[in-house]
Amino acid sequence: LTLCGTIVVIAYLLGSFPTGYIAVKLLKGIDIREVGSGSTGATNVLRTLGKGPGAFVLVLDALKGVLAIALVYWLFNFNQIQNYIPPTIDAQAWQPWVLTLAGLAGILGHSKSIFLGFTGGKSVAISLGILLTMSWQVGLATVGVFAVVVAISRIVSLSSIAGAIAVPIFMVLLHQPLPYILFGIAGGLYVILRHRTNIERLLAGTEPKIGQNVATPE
Ligand code: G3P
Repeated sequence: LTLCGTIVVIAYLLGSFPTGYIAVKLLKGIDIREVGSGSTGATNVLRTLGKGPGAFVLVLDALKGVLAIALVYWLFNFNQIQNYIPPTIDAQAWQPWVLTLAGLAGILGHSKSIFLGFTGGKSVAISLGILLTMSWQVGLATVGVFAVVVAISRIVSLSSIAGAIAVPIFMVLLHQPLPYILFGIAGGLYVILRHRTNIERLLAGTEPKIGQNVATPE
């Protein structure tokens, strides 16, 4: 339980690391939360600073997710720690559940960062990193859905929402363990909820395409 709690806290802190906020503060001297969509995510960095910094933040935010999941794999296979796990506990059976909790903690951290007064992004990039590390097959399939929707619509939020819907479906279709399916449902729902204002703009027909700005910041 202590191990699990420690992992969840570290995953939350990793997710909390405000990459987009720092990038825009350093390169433009402004608070990203006051421009564009107000999100600290890569899409808003793209809007504010351009393609290079946007891609950089996307990769770093995805890496936070990779690290959160890699930490679980590493700790569960670290001999020193295995010695402390009582023999009555089947660590291999618990691992996917702890991975799921770490993933959800990372997602929460990115959008409710302890370093930004519990504000942040929409947890799309970090979810991508988590997915690719948890199940690369589901990760790649989801990237495929995102890519198709973004190619057709040129709207990132719509593509993220489509990806969030696709994750639990791919988890089931690709026969992933129950905790991963639950991760897909909970994480997907959370990411969709984080896009509430985007959904309002999509319905109103005012959601910006790539290269356009948000008319009214959130
Ligand atoms: O990465 C989040 C994306 O789906 C939407 O971002 O800034 O357009 O609200 P944004």
